[in-house]
Amino acid sequence: MHKDKWNQRYSGTELLWPQEPSEILKKEMADIPPGQALDLAAGEGRNAFFLAKQGWEVTAVDFSEVAVQKGLELTRKLKLPVKWEVQDLTRYRPAEGSYDCITIFYLHLPWEEFSEVLLRAAAALRPQGVLLLVGHDSTNIEAGTGGPQDPDVLYSPADITALFGTNETLEVERAERQQQALDHGEGESGAAQIDCVVKARRIE
Ligand SMILES: C[S@@+](CC[C@H](N)C(=O)[O-])C[C@H]1O[C@@H](n2cnc3c(N)ncnc32)[C@H](O)[C@@H]1O
Repeated sequence: MHKDKWNQRYSGTELLWPQEPSEILKKEMADIPPGQALDLAAGEGRNAFFLAKQGWEVTAVDFSEVAVQKGLELTRKLKLPVKWEVQDLTRYRPAEGSYDCITIFYLHLPWEEFSEVLLRAAAALRPQGVLLLVGHDSTNIEAGTGGPQDPDVLYSPADITALFGTNETLEVERAERQQQALDHGEGESGAAQIDCVVKARRIE
């Protein structure tokens, strides 16, 4: 979806997404000691704020100026160590070898662009750093609810594992489909969404 459309979606006075962080983030990060984190496609920052509350120093990145402005206001209000950057991820190159954790939640781009974003994110990890990717799974249109309805921007654990298999510095620790109650956005109330969840670690 084009940046102007995202700005439009974010331009209401209310927050577009709930402020509660993703349950998957909470579970997957529970045992990881804090350090430098990068949240890509951060939206209004619900996951970045959760990480900051756990002691992480977070950089939150999104291409929507409106979302970033809302994130900045919340950061001041909550007095949390979150820096914000407006960046288009199809061009953005995070500094290599710089982060202990990189999170990407519900970013959906055509595969050619998305795979580049993922490989640049992998290069930005420090040794032992963790990349946590969560998005609407390719089966979500048929069997789940909510999320993009264009199959070309959805992906599966197998797609991501195959891509990360081309990068010998990455070890995939988890790659699976998970069902959960609707996490955010429009969807059938009471129905489960199907997410693709991948956790990978840089081994050197
Ligand atoms: C569904 S929202 C998810 C927000 C957040 N990760 C969360 O889980 O609450 C997707 C976000 O991706 C951002 N986005 C989409 N394409 C982008 C791009 N090319 N560069 C940077 N951000 C992008 C949108 O502005 C939006 O904030």
